[in-house]
Amino acid sequence: MARLDGKVVLVTGGASGIGAAHAQVFAAEGAKIMVGDLQQEKGRELVANIDKAGGEADFMLLDVANEASWQAIVAATVSRFGKLTSLVNNAGIGRSKDTESETVEGWNKVCAVNQTGVWLGMKVAIPAMRDAGGGAIVNISSVYGIIGSVGMIAYHASKGAVRLMTKAAALEYATQNIRINSVHPGIIATPLAMTLPEEYINDIKGKTPMGRLGQPEEIARGSLFLISDDASFVTGTELVVDGGWTAQ
Ligand SMILES: NC(=O)c1ccc[n+]([C@@H]2O[C@H](COP(=O)([O-])OP(=O)(O)OC[C@H]3O[C@@H](n4cnc5c(N)ncnc54)[C@H](O)[C@@H]3O)[C@@H](O)[C@H]2O)c1
Repeated sequence: MARLDGKVVLVTGGASGIGAAHAQVFAAEGAKIMVGDLQQEKGRELVANIDKAGGEADFMLLDVANEASWQAIVAATVSRFGKLTSLVNNAGIGRSKDTESETVEGWNKVCAVNQTGVWLGMKVAIPAMRDAGGGAIVNISSVYGIIGSVGMIAYHASKGAVRLMTKAAALEYATQNIRINSVHPGIIATPLAMTLPEEYINDIKGKTPMGRLGQPEEIARGSLFLISDDASFVTGTELVVDGGWTAQ
């Protein structure tokens, strides 16, 4: 039996990078996948490839900062696959501004996607999970939700919020068979990370004991454990997947 047989998983930001890896790895483990993203063409291409590989997946346009958009995708998932058991709150954006150069507009945009988006996902998906008899949520934070760095003030604020929202929500739903955990990637080779200056990436590589960037699939494999029934007694915890960076 595959590890996610019987699961129906909604992956946000699933058209690219870490989200796309989750969709592919989870589909290969037997889950039915709904991909939600702003990038329609890439999202549709991904689900076509999953279907070609023998999996089952669908795509729907999703703006995680918009509650009506969440209601539409959760309803569509239940209608297409009969239920929703699992959510990977992965959609996120980066922004390189320090405390004084950040603007209210930039701050609000990052928080709307990375922080409000994660809360809205839990708020709208949890009733459907309850209807399914239980479920599991993985919220993708970052090592930057645990440690500070210079020049990304709004990103740190939003990712730190994801870490603690996860623990608060885990306590709220602990008796309802709904588990909620966070995953904290180090620097991973995705389009988002490649927008960072080369010297910045090299600096992080130098700080990473394993001496390399992570691959998107390595994050998906961590989430796979948390979403699967192997993690049946795991809730409110944080899984760091960073090649040893924050162990120092
Ligand atoms: N790449 C890294 O080094 C790294 C490190 C730590 C954490 N993360 C986190 O992992 C997650 C995925 O990052 P990635 O590197 O794969 O990025 P990415 O840019 O490759 O993919 C992010 C996806 O999210 C989508 N998205 C953005 N705003 C959205 C919105 N409002 N609604 C729906 N979808 C939206 C994008 O269209 C894109 O497809 C993010 O939350 C990011 O903060 C990434």
